[in-house]
Amino acid sequence: MEEILADTVDQTVFENENMYRQIIEYSVDPIVIHRNYKILYINQSGTRFFKGLKEEIVGTCVLDVFQEEDKPIIMERNRQAMAGTEPLDVIEETITKFDGTKVEVELYCHPVIFGDKKAIQTVFRDVTVRKDTEKLLNHQEKLASIGQIAAGIAHEIKNPLTSVKGFLRLLKESYTHPYLDVMDAELEKALDTLKNLLQVSKPDLQEEKVVSINFCKELSSLMLLFQERLYNVEVELDLRDSEITIFGKKNLFLKAFFNLIKNALEAIEEKGKITILHYHKDGWIHIKVSDTGVGVPKDKLKMLGTPFFSSKSDGTGLGLTQVFTTINEHGGNITVESVVGQGTTFHIQLPVKQ
Ligand SMILES: Nc1ncnc2c1ncn2[C@@H]1O[C@H](COP(=O)(O)OP(=O)(O)OP(=O)(O)O)[C@@H](O)[C@H]1O
Ligand SMILES: [Mg+2]
Repeated sequence: MEEILADTVDQTVFENENMYRQIIEYSVDPIVIHRNYKILYINQSGTRFFKGLKEEIVGTCVLDVFQEEDKPIIMERNRQAMAGTEPLDVIEETITKFDGTKVEVELYCHPVIFGDKKAIQTVFRDVTVRKDTEKLLNHQEKLASIGQIAAGIAHEIKNPLTSVKGFLRLLKESYTHPYLDVMDAELEKALDTLKNLLQVSKPDLQEEKVVSINFCKELSSLMLLFQERLYNVEVELDLRDSEITIFGKKNLFLKAFFNLIKNALEAIEEKGKITILHYHKDGWIHIKVSDTGVGVPKDKLKMLGTPFFSSKSDGTGLGLTQVFTTINEHGGNITVESVVGQGTTFHIQLPVKQ
């Protein structure tokens, strides 16, 4: 009887261990168990995450995946984990995978018993997406607060300027003077800038109706507006999947593409080429506006889209803000690739179903 009982107990222990093994092996989180820095075990998610084979990874030193400057912290944490029984505080580190790519991770370390001896179980959680979202939110918050301040100022200035413009028009009815025309034109420019500023800082206020838009048609017509500026610039329109339409605010889009094409033209100093590519893939419309212009230095790339960022003496720095706001408002994405001296490509993706 006792023998049978002992057997049952052993069987339960065995089943528990087996279950535990399976939970770890098939966990969605990458898990590594190590002792004295030597990796004793890695689960399936782990091998996928580290981009290596199990037999390649087991036996290697866990410290190798960390940056040189972070190794002392990791060693100290290993010491703490081996000395205690509690999980350690979660920390963030950059690690290098077996294929050489770097990624930011959160580390969850817990002392465990592995093969009768104490070891450390480390869970690696990829935080790249969360970090990117945080950066984006930060950027958008910054944009929003700059936008709010700017919109307030614009609103205050717009009203008196509009009345000055009205009186100037009245004056022009009774007097003729060349200065009056210059003043009128300059005022028009200032009011235009304010209108743009209000538009980008409070895009929700744009009471434009949502309509069906065929970008191939709109982009072809838009290019006609630039006819007179195209003598030194070759334009290639590669408009595929021309039957595709999406719903959105057409004037906002026209203005956004106008701004992109204007920037592309301004980036070309003498001769050059602008290519506009349109295609449909997996439920998204892709539009790429490329130029062979001066390009954007790497450190300036992240400034693109920030209100008032401009390298031009007469630029307002609101063009790209309008572009980014419009694309975001329609649930799309925009990325920029640029090489100084070679050119720039703006890649826009818009969901077909919104
Ligand atoms: N295609 C491009 N090639 C190189 N630099 C670019 C390109 N597009 C934008 N930039 C850079 O980004 C800056 C901001 O562009 P944005 O359109 O917002 O303002 P701007 O062109 O300077 O002024 P505005 O649009 O009011 O004329 C530009 O001044 C330029 O330095
Ligand atoms: Mg511009």
